Amino acid sequence: MTHLDVLALSGSLRRDSLNTTLLREAERLGPRLRFDHFGGLGLLPHFNEDEEHPAPAAVAELRRRVREADAVLIATPEYNSSFPGALKNALDWLSRPADGEGPALLRKPVAVVGASPGPFGTVRAQSALRQVLHKMNAHVVQQPEFLLFQAQRQFGDDGRFPEDSPARGLLCDVLDALTRLVEDEAHLRSRTEATVR
Ligand SMILES: Cc1cc2nc3c(=O)[nH]c(=O)nc-3n(C[C@H](O)[C@H](O)[C@H](O)COP(=O)(O)O)c2cc1C
Repeated sequence: MTHLDVLALSGSLRRDSLNTTLLREAERLGPRLRFDHFGGLGLLPHFNEDEEHPAPAAVAELRRRVREADAVLIATPEYNSSFPGALKNALDWLSRPADGEGPALLRKPVAVVGASPGPFGTVRAQSALRQVLHKMNAHVVQQPEFLLFQAQRQFGDDGRFPEDSPARGLLCDVLDALTRLVEDEAHLRSRTEATVR
């Protein structure tokens, strides 16, 4: 496998978001990863069962980009001890089957990271997010966990981690774990197909 396509999803709509900054740094740290940054979270309508068919254009676009990706990397802020409603709304849309296919995140390799200015590094947001992803049967990287506390102090003025920062090394480890998860699943799929034939 020469490269992996990763859909990067920031749970923040904020222009100077720490979490979006984190995803930009992840893109620079993963040379084998080709990033697609989804910036349309704020354009998704509120999930409404009455308006699922046909799917709103912004939802169809998100679904397509998730399906085309080998993996998804989510960076979540923490809002009131959980993850933001805009991100939950996107996950509710993604949890639904569409166009004769299953939910777009079903068995999709996913890694979760998060950054906050406070001392806890989004631990409660990530815990809540993992629970939802588990329910959706996404395949989520369990270790290492990446909790960036006091995040504004950890990035340099260029929005990058210093070369020797522990956060930089840990983020690389998360990307490696996500890559391994994709490769393991591809390997398993090819073995299953060979057995069935
Ligand atoms: C509505 C709201 C609720 C928040 N609740 C929490 C919280 O429970 N825990 C926390 O660590 N930070 C909380 N914060 C602070 C966010 O961590 C901070 O605004 C962060 O920068 C948001 O992520 P972003 O920079 O990617 O936009 C909250 C911020 C907002 C706007």
